[in-house]
Amino acid sequence: MRIDVLTIFPDLIRDVLKYSIPRRAIDAGLVDVVAHDLRDYADDKHKTIDDSPYGGGAGMIFKPEPIAHALKALPSGGHVVFLTPQGRPFTQSVANALSLTDHLILLCGHYRGIDERVREHYVDDEISIGDYVLSGGELPALVVVDALIRLIPGAIGDAESALEDSFQNGLLDCAWYTRPREFEGATVPQALLSGDREKVAQWRRDNARQRTRARRPDLLESQ
Ligand code: ADE
Repeated sequence: MRIDVLTIFPDLIRDVLKYSIPRRAIDAGLVDVVAHDLRDYADDKHKTIDDSPYGGGAGMIFKPEPIAHALKALPSGGHVVFLTPQGRPFTQSVANALSLTDHLILLCGHYRGIDERVREHYVDDEISIGDYVLSGGELPALVVVDALIRLIPGAIGDAESALEDSFQNGLLDCAWYTRPREFEGATVPQALLSGDREKVAQWRRDNARQRTRARRPDLLESQ
């Protein structure tokens, strides 16, 4: 899988991917993530990428040309995703579907947004990571990249663990415990100490269901 990220802060993208599972997946060649500086595609000597909106108003708009130039410089056929609070909500099932894409291009906006014409002609998909407004699309792009990398076969040590993540079966994850057996007077549920695999599996299923009912009943309703 290849992921290109178009941004005015390429180092922010590169730096965050130097840690943990994304780093290992990239080093192992399971995914190629390339961050491109949109300013490199600006056509004036000041490397201008934004301008004020026609009709007036506060805030700046990304000009269409640098985005179009950057996209044309990439191999064709990539699925272009614009990160925006106006996009469709990012969920585990969206992540699962996107993880099947060979080539993803994530476009990070800033300020008020991007020129509508470039959005209409070049963007295939728009994604929001939640109903709040961030300063730019970089953190959302990193959220998407991280969620996708977890799903690439081989990216996670234990092959089953991505499938057991919260949301993969429409439920929140169960509670987990490790040593010591007793911590500040609190013990570990007996079923987990029983050594009986079926009992452990049953406890985890029940616990996941109880947690989902208590914290996110909406997830149960949509099942
Ligand atoms: N850009 C700014 N806020 C965002 C959000 N919530 N999701 C995706 N992109 C964004």
